Amino acid sequence: MSTADIATPPNAAGSNAPQALAVPSGTPPVVEVKGLWSVFGKGSEAFAVHQDLEFTVQRGEMLSLVGGSGTGKTVLLRQILGLARPARGTVTVLGRPASEMGREGAASRVGMLFQHGALFSAFNVLDNVAFALREQGTLPDDLVRDAALVKLQMVGLKPEHASRMPADLSGGMVKRVALARALIMDPPLLLLDEPTAGLDPSSADEFCALLRELHAALGLTMVMVTHDLDTLFALSTRVAVLADKKVVVTGPPTEVARFKHPFVEQFFMGERGQRAMAPLAGLPEQPPAAPMQTSKDA
Ligand SMILES: Nc1ncnc2c1ncn2[C@@H]1O[C@H](COP(=O)(O)OP(=O)(O)O)[C@@H](O)[C@H]1O
Ligand SMILES: [Mg+2]
Repeated sequence: MSTADIATPPNAAGSNAPQALAVPSGTPPVVEVKGLWSVFGKGSEAFAVHQDLEFTVQRGEMLSLVGGSGTGKTVLLRQILGLARPARGTVTVLGRPASEMGREGAASRVGMLFQHGALFSAFNVLDNVAFALREQGTLPDDLVRDAALVKLQMVGLKPEHASRMPADLSGGMVKRVALARALIMDPPLLLLDEPTAGLDPSSADEFCALLRELHAALGLTMVMVTHDLDTLFALSTRVAVLADKKVVVTGPPTEVARFKHPFVEQFFMGERGQRAMAPLAGLPEQPPAAPMQTSKDA
């Protein structure tokens, strides 16, 4: 089973497109999903959400997962986090099965930015950010506080924000606090579920800029789910499309946008898609650098 895999020369999408970080060849993938089946329900009610799904994420990539509602994007993020087990196949994160990470191991290997921030409403900002490190119980509290303050600064917040309660924060600040919390254990992999959902356009742009800075500065690998095309073009070095219970195509956003598949056409060519693609319209058509394969070639 192969997925259409469109390679493209560096910078083909314009200088504004995010670039995957350079890593030595032979570096093992950060995420490797092979022969994955996800099945829900029992007996005659059983239905498969993923059927022989595969994809790989290399270190330093920013990969966006797109697909219609119910195609199993959230299930896939949960499997990468080790919170859900596939019916068949393997999900490997940094060389180990995701399901064997355990809760503490997971926090130091994979950070998760949940869709609506999901902050603890009874904890202030600092205690939200410090949560996983404090729970681990290996550092004295003044060092835990210092680590949390460093993370707040990293996401563009000030020490005076540390004592605020989640209810008193703007949407953009909630996202920043949630990001600081996801990064408290310095995980090499960050998962993001709809990172800009619910933000006004300028807050969304600022949050994308922050994620791009952190990607470059920390060498983070990111896997995100998004429906928003502005976010997709701002943050993806590669896109993977979930349809027909598998990943039907992966490649750079501008290449995937031209892939012939009903979901891809509807997703990129709707009114919003045309708007997001408009800045790219003047660019020359890029021939794929490698021959294209589709799942039919397998
Ligand atoms: N724990 C579960 N039990 C039963 N069905 C589930 C469970 N989790 C997900 N599903 C089903 O799997 C499908 C994909 O879900 P989800 O990953 O949330 O889709 P997406 O995030 O792509 O919209 C849905 O049809 C949903 O009903
Ligand atoms: Mg979902």
